[in-house]
Amino acid sequence: MSDNEVILEMKHIDMRFRGVHAVDDVSFTLRRGEVHALVGENGAGKTTLMKVLVGLYSPNAGEIVFEGVPVKFRNVGATRTAGICMIFQEFNQVKHLTVMENIYLGREPKTKTGSVNYKQMFEDSRVVLNKIGVEIDPKTFVRDLTVAKQQLVEIAKAVSFNARIIIMDEPTSALSDTEINRLFETVRTLKAEGKAIVFISHKLEEIFGVCDRVTILRDGRFIHSDLVKNINESELIHMMVDREISEMFPKEESEIGDITLEVKGLTCKGVFEDISFNLRRGEILGLSGLMGAGRTEVVEAIVGSRKLDHGEIFLDGKKIVNRMPGDAIARGIIMVPEDRKKHGLALKMSVKDNILMSALHKCLKGGYIRKNLEKKYSSEYMTKLDIKADSDRQICSNLSGGNQQKVVIARILNADPNVIILDEPTRGIDVKTKADIHKLMSQLAVQGKAVLMISSELNEVLGMSDRIIVLHEGKLTGTLKRSEANAERIMQYAIGKMEEEVH
Ligand SMILES: Nc1ncnc2c1ncn2[C@@H]1O[C@H](COP(=O)(O)OP(=O)(O)OP(=O)(O)O)[C@@H](O)[C@H]1O
Ligand SMILES: [Mg+2]
Repeated sequence: MSDNEVILEMKHIDMRFRGVHAVDDVSFTLRRGEVHALVGENGAGKTTLMKVLVGLYSPNAGEIVFEGVPVKFRNVGATRTAGICMIFQEFNQVKHLTVMENIYLGREPKTKTGSVNYKQMFEDSRVVLNKIGVEIDPKTFVRDLTVAKQQLVEIAKAVSFNARIIIMDEPTSALSDTEINRLFETVRTLKAEGKAIVFISHKLEEIFGVCDRVTILRDGRFIHSDLVKNINESELIHMMVDREISEMFPKEESEIGDITLEVKGLTCKGVFEDISFNLRRGEILGLSGLMGAGRTEVVEAIVGSRKLDHGEIFLDGKKIVNRMPGDAIARGIIMVPEDRKKHGLALKMSVKDNILMSALHKCLKGGYIRKNLEKKYSSEYMTKLDIKADSDRQICSNLSGGNQQKVVIARILNADPNVIILDEPTRGIDVKTKADIHKLMSQLAVQGKAVLMISSELNEVLGMSDRIIVLHEGKLTGTLKRSEANAERIMQYAIGKMEEEVH
C-alpha cells in the first residue's frame, strides 16, 4: 500500500442517542500517511463518530471499510487488534502499574513456564518507546509520569499494536507548549511511517501547524473536507460555526475599583513561595506562567483546598482564613477548577441540577423550590453559554466534553460570586463559545466583579487581562499592566529571566 492510498472509509454513518442525532449521515475518508483534523463545535459529533469507528457505539446506519474490507468491530479490543487505536481524552491507564505493564496489559509476554516474562516485556517496551523517540524508563510507574508522558505511553501502546490508524481526541489539551512540540514530532514520525492519524482539536494553530487534511462537522453533519492548504482560518471558522464571531477577545472597558482580594506572602513549602498580589473590583487579572509554575496551586490555597505554610489573605480589607472551599464560597469567592470532570461536575446529575446546585436558594419562594424559577435559571445559562443538550434534564455524562465544561462554568456564574477564579476557562472549548465566555468575563468585570484568570494561552491572557502577573517555579516574577504587556515580556518572566528594565 502506498501513501495517500485510502485506508479507511466511513460511509453514511448515522448515530442517534435518545432524542439526539449525534452523527447524521457522515462520510469520512482517511488516507495513509496523513494527519487528518476532525473539527467542529462542542457537540458537533467528533468523538461520537470516532467511537463508532472503534466499536464503542454501534451505528444506526452506515458502513465502514478498512483496508478495502467491510468491517464491523464489536469492541475497542477487537478494533485495536485489527490496527485501529483511539487515545481517549481521559486515557484508561492503570496508574499503579509500570509503563511496560500498561503497554502490554492483558497480553503480557510469557516464559516457557507460563509466568510473565518481564525481561522480554522490558525489551519490547524499549523498542516501541524508542521507535517514537521517547525516553521513558519502561519500569517507571505511570502515576509518576506527567500527563504528557502518559499521553506518549498511550501512543507507544498504539504503536505496539502495530496500529495503522491512531485517533487522538484533543491530545494537547493538558500539555505545555514544549510537550505539544514533542507530541508533534512524534506525530510526524508516525506519519512518515505511513500511519494515518485522526487529530481532534479546537486549536486552529494545531490544525494549520500539523494537519494535512481537515474534515468539518457541524450539528452532527458533514460540512466539508479538504487539504488544509486549500482553506484559510476564517473560512474554517465560518464552516465550523456558520455565523459570524463578532470579536475574538471582546474586552470591554470597565471601571477598576477598590482592592477586594489581597494576598500577602503566600507560601506552601516546595510548591510556591512568598506570593503577594491584589485584585480589584472590575478587574480581570491574568495569572500566567508555564505549566508546573504553581498557578493552580496558588489559587487552590486561596480558596482553601490546599494548606498554606505562611501568608495572609484579605477580603475587602479584612483578614480571612478559608479552611475549605466551602468557606471561600460562603464569602463569595468561587473557583472554576481546571479539571472540571474531577472536581466540578456531578456527572450522574442532570444539566439543570448541576447548574442550580450552587444557588438553589434563588429558586425558593415561600419555602418551596419553584419549578418555574428552576427552569428560568437553568435556561438562562443554557442560552448564555450555548449549552448543547437535549433538554435541561439530560444527564451530564452524556454531554460532549466541551458542553460539560460549560455546565460547570454556568453553575459558578449562577452562584453570583464577587470574586471569580477561572483556571484555564476555555480549554477544550470551541472557538465560538470561547468568544462567548470571554464576553461573559468582560461583562462580569463591568458589573464590578473581580476576575482572576489562569491561562496558558498567551493570546487569551493578553486579550482579556487588565493586568498580568507571572509565576515561575513557584515565585512571582513579574507584574505587567495591559498597556505594557506583550507575549515576549510574559515569556521572559515565565522562564524566570527577569530584566530590571521590565519593572
Ligand atoms: N452516550 C450518549 N448519550 C446521549 N447523548 C450523547 C452521548 N454521547 C454523545 N451524546 C450527544 O451527542 C452529541 C455529539 O457529542 P460528541 O461528544 O460527539 O461531540 P464532540 O464533537 O466530540 O464535542 P466536544 O468538542 O465538546 O468534545 C452531543 O449533543 C452529545 O450530547
Ligand atoms: Mg469530544
